[in-house]
Amino acid sequence: MSTAIVGEGRGDVADRATAGFRQRYGTEPAGRWAAPGRVNLIGEHTDYNDGFVLPFALPLRTVVAAAPGPDGRWTVWSELDDEPVEFGAEAADEPGRVDGWAAYVAGVVWALRAAGLDVPGARLAIASDVPVGSGLSSSAAIESAVLAALVDLGGLDLPTERWPRLAQRAENDYVGAPTGIMDQSAVIRGVQGHALFLDCRTEEVEQIPFDLDAAGLAVLVVDSRAPHRHADGEYAARRRSCERAAATLGVAALRDVPTADLDAALARLDDEETRRRVRHVVTEDQRVLDTVALLRAGRVRDIGPLLTASHASMRDDFEITVPEVDTAVEAALTAGAHGARMTGGGFGGCVLALVDVDAADTVARAVADAYAERGFAAPGTLTVQPAGGVTRM
Ligand code: GLA
Repeated sequence: MSTAIVGEGRGDVADRATAGFRQRYGTEPAGRWAAPGRVNLIGEHTDYNDGFVLPFALPLRTVVAAAPGPDGRWTVWSELDDEPVEFGAEAADEPGRVDGWAAYVAGVVWALRAAGLDVPGARLAIASDVPVGSGLSSSAAIESAVLAALVDLGGLDLPTERWPRLAQRAENDYVGAPTGIMDQSAVIRGVQGHALFLDCRTEEVEQIPFDLDAAGLAVLVVDSRAPHRHADGEYAARRRSCERAAATLGVAALRDVPTADLDAALARLDDEETRRRVRHVVTEDQRVLDTVALLRAGRVRDIGPLLTASHASMRDDFEITVPEVDTAVEAALTAGAHGARMTGGGFGGCVLALVDVDAADTVARAVADAYAERGFAAPGTLTVQPAGGVTRM
């Protein structure tokens, strides 16, 4: 059988953060800030190609309880790891000095300081319902909740529109993961009941109503629980391949290859692998635009085939899927899902399936059965609705 994505019986995440703060520091936090995980409805590996994405924030959250620190240093405790991590400005100012999960916190301090802001020292306690390593952006959730806490505690003058880039810099330049702007944007700018249509070049945003209830639909998220197989190296390799192709084609980014010119562009590339990579990115941008058009017209169910086509493109052209996610997609479709695709960077992580509300259990069961047949570890499942972005609680 499948199991819940979030562990049961752990108690409320905000209460856990508060209790952790009290226990660790012996005082009350000054406040609590919460940031969600995300799934991407469609638009994979398009963000660093200056293209389009359509993610939404999840009802699973990371909560940071925090208060000003006594001596201009930062102390962070997380329920992931009983040992708190402490660092000062000298470590925050040198990318890589703080590592492990605490690097996401130090990275935010670094990005804020690099932007010339006077970041207050702080004590923080972190609890999270966003599973780590499942491709639901637990790292963007930590970065964004910590960013919100530090901005509030320090009374920093930093409009929310600038937060995604700063959180991304923490991840790119401090942690050292060459990711795009999608995750932080979804986590920071998400609005309940909407998917976030983001132009990753201009950072222009449109909130697209995504009312699953009204359409009698649900999004089922399946955690493939696939072990990570070289995901970081493969991600960086895909990114380099796209950048090289853009240079060969003489464009700033693959976003600048119009769908109508795709065949001509492919003819100018001399290896088959690069052609497949480019075809994925260009057709995926178009699928995002087509999905947005259908959602604007209120045709939610009709986006299913676009989701499934996106999966085929990731599997065959971008080559970032693994047997566990392909199995989940196939089983979901066979069991009646309107569409299904892997979501996130790839090489494991989660699959999402668009299903009729009353079919969600049947589809979840079908995926679990297919996993058992193939000898895969039981998948995690959860039905979700688009939730809101980072907030002070
Ligand atoms: C990861 C990255 C994002 C994006 C996706 C793929 O989630 O963090 O920036 O590139 O992969 O769409």
